[in-house]
Amino acid sequence: VVLLAVLTARPDLAIHGELAAAAEARGLRLDLFDAGSLIASAWPPDVLGPDGRSRLGGVSAVLARVGNWRPDSTLALLDAMAAAGVAMLNGPAAIRRGRDHWRTAAALAAAGLPHPVTVAGSEPEALAAGAAAVCGFPCVVKQRRSRQGVGVILCPDRPALEAVLDSLWRVGDEVVVQRFVAPGGLSRRVLVLAGEAIGCTEHVAAAGEFRTNAARGGAVRAVADDDVARLAVSACASVGLGFAGVDLLFDGSSWLVGEVNPSPGWAHFARATGVNVACLLVDALARLAAAT
Ligand SMILES: Nc1ncnc2c1ncn2[C@@H]1O[C@H](COP(=O)(O)OP(=O)(O)O)[C@@H](O)[C@H]1O
Ligand SMILES: [Mg+2]
Repeated sequence: VVLLAVLTARPDLAIHGELAAAAEARGLRLDLFDAGSLIASAWPPDVLGPDGRSRLGGVSAVLARVGNWRPDSTLALLDAMAAAGVAMLNGPAAIRRGRDHWRTAAALAAAGLPHPVTVAGSEPEALAAGAAAVCGFPCVVKQRRSRQGVGVILCPDRPALEAVLDSLWRVGDEVVVQRFVAPGGLSRRVLVLAGEAIGCTEHVAAAGEFRTNAARGGAVRAVADDDVARLAVSACASVGLGFAGVDLLFDGSSWLVGEVNPSPGWAHFARATGVNVACLLVDALARLAAAT
């Protein structure tokens, strides 16, 4: 029996119910793997229940969704699944890359894809000086694992940049500093699945806000843009992901890749585009399972 799985530390989220329903409608079995109650074994590579017994029997393909709740534990489970030969849309190395603004910048640069100028450093004074020279003002400080715009901070001048870097340094958060893509407040998001763009939305920030995230009050509408779709497909490939939400920022004349999110939500995207993301994901997982 072909068994599909979704691995998540948040099985209660609505999208996981959507995925289970989409699988059931196709006569497929999809299990929700609750990362909170599972145990990763490095050798032999396996995923165990609290009783110490393998839970992997029959699982042929998995979609992992890794948020900021205990991400390393969820990724340990995914490492074990990969080593045990389970097929996956997004592998653990690619998820680690996409979750991290620095590693994403490096992957995009290696592929020659347009991305805002990005620098990393540690000591606040040295980083503020270097970033001021390279990025100018305003600039954007990002926690390397920001989500939904939380941890993405606009700094208008050198004192603000120093204050932000100093606070984050004290709490131990690793950051990047990025050139502000002016005028700001406008982005497009493309969902890419198995090397194809499945739709594109445009996001306009709320008044007084530069972040366009729907979670920060940004307005979302569907758009058709083949050039941005092609750029997003290349960005997703450069990070090595089979499924991602790619954010593109407009600099007044062209689009730059802002981030490649390995665990995108799709409620706003689905509402704006009418695309049934859960069904497409289940089909892609089933194709992966059939190919192994
Ligand atoms: N360098 C930048 N210049 C202008 N706006 C930016 C820049 N970086 C991020 N933003 C805005 O902030 C939002 C959130 O940043 P993003 O890198 O996508 O992180 P997150 O994972 O938190 O969504 C983006 O959608 C965009 O609207
Ligand atoms: Mg984003």
